[in-house]
Amino acid sequence: SKLETGSFTWQSPSNIALVKYWGKLEHQIPANPSISFTLNNCHTKTTLSYTKRANNSTDTFSFEVYLDGELKLDFAPKIETFFKRIEKYLPFLTDYHFKIETHNSFPHSSGIASSASGMSAIALCLMSMEKQLVPETTTTFFTEKASFLARLGSGSACRSIEGPLVGWGAHQQITNSTDLFGVKYDGDVANVFNNYQDTILLVDVGEKKVSSTVGHSLMEGHPFAERRFEQAHKNISKLIEIFKTGNIKGFIEVVESEALTLHAMMMTSIPYFILMKPNTLAIIDKIWEFRKATGSNVCFTLDAGANVHVLYPESEKEEVLKFIKNELVAYCKNEQYICDQIGFGAYSI
Ligand code: PMV
Repeated sequence: SKLETGSFTWQSPSNIALVKYWGKLEHQIPANPSISFTLNNCHTKTTLSYTKRANNSTDTFSFEVYLDGELKLDFAPKIETFFKRIEKYLPFLTDYHFKIETHNSFPHSSGIASSASGMSAIALCLMSMEKQLVPETTTTFFTEKASFLARLGSGSACRSIEGPLVGWGAHQQITNSTDLFGVKYDGDVANVFNNYQDTILLVDVGEKKVSSTVGHSLMEGHPFAERRFEQAHKNISKLIEIFKTGNIKGFIEVVESEALTLHAMMMTSIPYFILMKPNTLAIIDKIWEFRKATGSNVCFTLDAGANVHVLYPESEKEEVLKFIKNELVAYCKNEQYICDQIGFGAYSI
């Protein structure tokens, strides 16, 4: 009877992987470790309102989901699956009716995955509820369990709780790293990587062509799987050294290679997919030309889609934005792009 009715609100960001998570085992355990920049402007704001159900309530879940004020029945199966997975860690779930009201800062059909920001925001709201029920919950436990729960919603969501850099998956050189939740990277990071910029070019704004579930399963029995997982470990080691020394050319090489490898894995699986579009390639070509011609440190990364994340140091913002407007925006759907930069994680409102 401690909690009858109330609500919690959290704003949680998206993130962009530098070393990619691609392939998973059971229970959302990653096949390889990954590391990401937490974003700032791309975020989801979620209010979770709860009402205690009557004593005779069943063991089914009761919830409704709204996106920008509109009831979204098609979100129900995802939430249902999520709740089923986390029920044993939050036994109070079936005692309440939930209203989940969510808003994304980016357009719905932008092709930007809202699962990382959305699932982490719900996980955090549920942790706020648990903290009310268990007041002795420490900050560390709260953060780790929120990430743990978010992981069960969508793997990469576990990297959205904190920032600016988060590692997920056991890696020898990342302190306290684990497959179970994301941890804030606590190693040395040179100043060039502060406030790193990410301008997201929206090349294809439709629904995802390949769901994450299907995508990860393509790594099961993939001919290159074991070498790829080894490579991810090595690329994280390389990045750790790069962060320390500020070797930005090394950063570009690792990050672009990771993006292309992710797509190479999709092109060499059975079934195979090409998720890049002609405009994705045109943009990559332009970035390479610009870098060669000007000595710029601009580079790209990709998610499992056609959109391009353009990454660059804050000190080069003016030149790169000019280049983007003059040469890259023409390849975007309806000239759409989103200016973002590294952020510091989720917060309650
Ligand atoms: O979190 P999921 O299951 O949607 O997987 C995301 C995988 C990539 O975005 C392609 C890479 C990553 O590490 O974020």
